[in-house]
Amino acid sequence: MDRNYMELIEAAKEVRKNAYAPFSGFAVGAAVIASSGKIYTGVNVENSSYGLTICAERVAVFKAVSEGERELKAVAIYTDTENTVWPCGACRQVLYEFAQDGDMDVISSTSSGKVEVRKLSELLPKGFKFRPGM
Ligand code: THU
Repeated sequence: MDRNYMELIEAAKEVRKNAYAPFSGFAVGAAVIASSGKIYTGVNVENSSYGLTICAERVAVFKAVSEGERELKAVAIYTDTENTVWPCGACRQVLYEFAQDGDMDVISSTSSGKVEVRKLSELLPKGFKFRPGM
């Protein structure tokens, strides 16, 4: 396992404590590493109007992008589950938008000690890319 991934997993695990998940009770921590080498974290933030909930992965991506990052190298997520959990379809597409060279590693880690790595291109084959005039 890449040493940076251990740091990324630790960041996702640590930030998970801040998840706001009073409705589902399912707390998720996420961390992305950008081409700059910086790590940005996120948690799921739920809402009384359930559909307004945002996943941990998208919070991490949007924090990175709003700090000026445009290329993300990898994302780690951490859940208190027996088995690994993978980003939802909406988050896969958002990750794809900022995937360095069109792909990135997605790391899923659990409190049970499981760590698995997949390519985003495996989780989201043929993601959507739009450029004006295409
Ligand atoms: N959730 C995430 O934050 N990331 C995922 O990859 C899966 C789902 C959140 C959304 C919601 O707050 C809760 O988990 C249950 O769906």
